[in-house]
Amino acid sequence: MKKPLFFVVLMFSVILGTQPTISQTLNMQVDVKKVGSPIQSTMYGIFFEDINYGADGGLYAEMIKNRSFEFPQSLLGWTSFGKVEVRDDKPAFTNNPHFVRLHDAGHSDKQTGLDNEGFFGVAVKQNATYRFSVWGRLPEAGTGSIRVELIDGASNVLVKENLTFDSKEWKKYQVILKAPKTEAKARLRIFLTSKAAVDLDHVSLFPVDTWKGRENGLRKDLAQALYDLHPGVFRFPGGCIVEGTDLETRYQWKNTVGQVENRKLNENRWQYTFTHRFFPDYFQTYGMGFFELFQLSEDIGAEPLPVLSCGLACQFQNKDEKAHASVKELDPYIQDALDLIEFANGDVTTKWGKLRADMGHPTPFNLKMMAVGNEQWGALYPERLEPFVKAIRAKYPTFKIIGSAGPSPDGKDFEFGWKEMKRLKTDLVDEHYYKDPKWFLTNATRYDAYDRKGPKVFAGEYACHVQSVKNNFESALCEAAFMTGFERNADLVQMCTYAPLFAHVDGYQWRPDLIWFDNLRSVRSVNYYVQQLYGMNKGTNVLALTMNNQPVTGKDGLYATAAWDKSSKTYIIKIANTSDKEQSVSIMLAGLKKGVVFAKSTCTKLHSPDLDVENTLENPNAVVPVEIPVTLDGNVLNVKLESKTFAVYRLQY
Ligand code: AHR
Repeated sequence: MKKPLFFVVLMFSVILGTQPTISQTLNMQVDVKKVGSPIQSTMYGIFFEDINYGADGGLYAEMIKNRSFEFPQSLLGWTSFGKVEVRDDKPAFTNNPHFVRLHDAGHSDKQTGLDNEGFFGVAVKQNATYRFSVWGRLPEAGTGSIRVELIDGASNVLVKENLTFDSKEWKKYQVILKAPKTEAKARLRIFLTSKAAVDLDHVSLFPVDTWKGRENGLRKDLAQALYDLHPGVFRFPGGCIVEGTDLETRYQWKNTVGQVENRKLNENRWQYTFTHRFFPDYFQTYGMGFFELFQLSEDIGAEPLPVLSCGLACQFQNKDEKAHASVKELDPYIQDALDLIEFANGDVTTKWGKLRADMGHPTPFNLKMMAVGNEQWGALYPERLEPFVKAIRAKYPTFKIIGSAGPSPDGKDFEFGWKEMKRLKTDLVDEHYYKDPKWFLTNATRYDAYDRKGPKVFAGEYACHVQSVKNNFESALCEAAFMTGFERNADLVQMCTYAPLFAHVDGYQWRPDLIWFDNLRSVRSVNYYVQQLYGMNKGTNVLALTMNNQPVTGKDGLYATAAWDKSSKTYIIKIANTSDKEQSVSIMLAGLKKGVVFAKSTCTKLHSPDLDVENTLENPNAVVPVEIPVTLDGNVLNVKLESKTFAVYRLQY
């Protein structure tokens, strides 16, 4: 009997131990007649936390470490020489009282001054300008002066400028330094050049060219990377950082607003969470505080989503109930939540609305939601959440509240958490999962059978962890496949945010992360491009996509979903081919109106034959999206999907 060609190929493949490279055409169908559930504008978003030097030393563009001399070791990050005193009498800023007094060294050949090592160096770029600023005061009458220098790794002076002090009162002085060459590990050095002593505080250096040119600004390349994600929601400021290692070190938003110089320093809980990645110099200056984070949400077009402490210190690190605020002690925590809504939305005549206006934003930030508690579990949580819900609902009935289902995506605590969130009628429940590739692929169907009657889902932290904990293509492809399940269930899943967002190559505690950087460069991981492809191709409504009348959730290694975008009149189809073979797929737009002509149809692909490849600072474009035109045959799109590919088709008419 004559064997069919496919069978012969298959036999050879079995003998050679390889997979067949061709397959039968698979027929998918997108029902374009029935427009399905709306996809929320908040669907794909960003989660920012100050971990991995994501804020100070990262997105926040300040280049000086310990600028206010408030670290427990007052001169950490600084090397002093000559006669330098740390003092706190009659300070400029009551919340950050320490400052340095530079005295004449007492000999014509001796020098007084100090230099700063920055965050893993002070990195400057050729011809770029940097704003040096300092608060200064003369302890005695007279004139004081300093010379400010940027020096390279071998102590050569790159650029220098002088500053003169003329007042016995604290005053801000500044000067611009232009870097003659690029230097990754420069330092800032200050010499006292007068006989008279000077007091210095809040010694600061920013690139002039920050995101939107703001003086207390953000690193441009990193903020741009956030903007380019097209995020719908921006969750901040954490993460475990919300809870603190103890209540003392929890994130308190009120300490992060108002005059930058007077924001009280906090210890960063990621300083010592992992002793194998220990960073004793990791603190939070809050120079990028809640005002700046709201402003960033606005800049990048995302809904702000603050997370506040519910009175529980990190539950992983505090097993003793006494470490937490008791239910009776919650009033100030609840007041913080109510005041935050006033800060974001209140009229400028209100206490907190006025502060927002004084900080430069009289119009409201239009805050619509808040999470109370980060990753909490057990009975301790709902009994604390309940009074928050009552107080917020009483004052702001339509405000959305997000509760937590704990750190795991299943199990006893997870079930209990969901049951309690239903009882408390939170609007959404925040689920977290850091799992392996197999979990991600199997869980593409996770939400298909979820209860539709309770709160909606917010996948607030997730990332596929391969064993090497790399941001490799395998992890990204599995996330892309898994996320088809978010979109298919958009009636239920209303927001999702990958975590963590940023990591400094010299200072990370946790990996994988979406965006990596050093002091001069940044790189968008392959996982970033998956998020971006979803963010840019959201659509407004789900469309049913089936193969043999079933959703495409892993059969033949394929995962697929479809959406309709009302405003651009575009059908959007996303397919992940996780299999080892190229697949021929025929996608029929069932019910397409006669006479529809597609003006522009494209396929944007992320593909690599190498699952272990990653984008790095040295090789940032190892796997990046590639766009090609595609053509339909009437209402059918015939495609060949290479093995290990995530493809997004946009069919626009
Ligand atoms: O994203 C890193 C950490 O993972 C978050 O801070 C915490 O919420 C989770 O455990």
